Amino acid sequence: MGRANKVVLAYSGGVDTSVCIPYLQQEWGVQQIITLAADLGQGDELGPIRDKALRCGAIESLVENVQEEFVKNYAFPAIRANALYENRYPLSTALARPLIAKLLVNVAQKYGADAVAHGCTGKGNDQVRFDLAISALDPNLKILAPAREWGMSREETIAYGEKFGIESPVKKSSPFSIDRNLLGRSIEAGSLEDPSTEPPEEIYLMTKAIKDTPNEPEYLEIGFERGYPVSLNGQYLDPVQLIVQLNEKVGNHGVGRIDMIENRVVGIKSREIYEAPALLVLIDAHRDLESLTLIGDVTHYKRGIEDTYAQLIYRGLWYSPLKEALDAFIDKTQESVTGTVRIKLFKGNAQIVGRSSKNSIYAPDLATYGSDDKFDHKAAEGFIYVWGLPTRVWSQKNRS
Ligand code: ARG
Repeated sequence: MGRANKVVLAYSGGVDTSVCIPYLQQEWGVQQIITLAADLGQGDELGPIRDKALRCGAIESLVENVQEEFVKNYAFPAIRANALYENRYPLSTALARPLIAKLLVNVAQKYGADAVAHGCTGKGNDQVRFDLAISALDPNLKILAPAREWGMSREETIAYGEKFGIESPVKKSSPFSIDRNLLGRSIEAGSLEDPSTEPPEEIYLMTKAIKDTPNEPEYLEIGFERGYPVSLNGQYLDPVQLIVQLNEKVGNHGVGRIDMIENRVVGIKSREIYEAPALLVLIDAHRDLESLTLIGDVTHYKRGIEDTYAQLIYRGLWYSPLKEALDAFIDKTQESVTGTVRIKLFKGNAQIVGRSSKNSIYAPDLATYGSDDKFDHKAAEGFIYVWGLPTRVWSQKNRS
């Protein structure tokens, strides 16, 4: 008896997930393997990937284009939540995992599989995200993670694959570990493992070096409706196009890089480089539009929610009751977050230079220092008397 009969494997076409196919069959006695490759805009050609899985021994090789769902149902909620893990990482990799998990579970149910599998190792965050999301969606499905157990080095993995006719990578594989999708690129390992070294320029693909950026600034106008990004420079765009075009424009001015040491779920600190031009600018613009349309109390309270929300995404709890409850809160706050934000891109900066909204609660007649000021200055006196009362009384007792 093997560990499972029929398995749906998350497949990327790379060496590790390819080796998972014979490994599951030979070592773990799996009878049938269906592979599933999700097209999240990673830019790989998916035709060859489909064929490769079949050559490696899969009985069925599925490819699903889920770019639109990815942006609409995963990236946009994170933007409405201004979700930044540890205040910096916009979760471009993390957001893809619950979607892939959902696809795996759907296919497993459709094909009557008794397990799903992924190629994550035991050190990263992605294993946590896959496992938690899968078990939240279908607690009865077995989860197989061969790479977490097989203990093979990269060379051994390649050699194992060759025994079963899996071609080793043609080009000398990059020293970096790279994850990419529509939202961004995550780059780690190799020389980046030394936190004191500057990342080599060649790791970047979505953002230009400042020396190569245009010498003239470029202005962007991003439109939001109820917190959802909907337009660029006055033109309504579907979610995928909006991200694609924004990545291009923002990255062209050298905006969107992050170099950080982050705290992984498994307790390890790791150095990661990110490129996420569109996502970072959208979060910044969205937060700015909130400052025009939400009352202070809501904004201040929401900040705590945002941090929790980012942690839930990072830690694999996308499909959790707390996340759903926070979604309801965020949804309510976004009812008035409609309007436009103007951004000036220049030499590595994306500066917000203006915002406007039909729901603006910025009151010019209250804010002005001019002669048409409507604010009742005398009312401030009574307010300050009452507001300061408790500290005044305390000071009389304790400070004199
Ligand atoms: N640290 C990021 C995260 O946990 C990215 C993980 C994948 N990174 C990579 N370079 N393969 O979301």
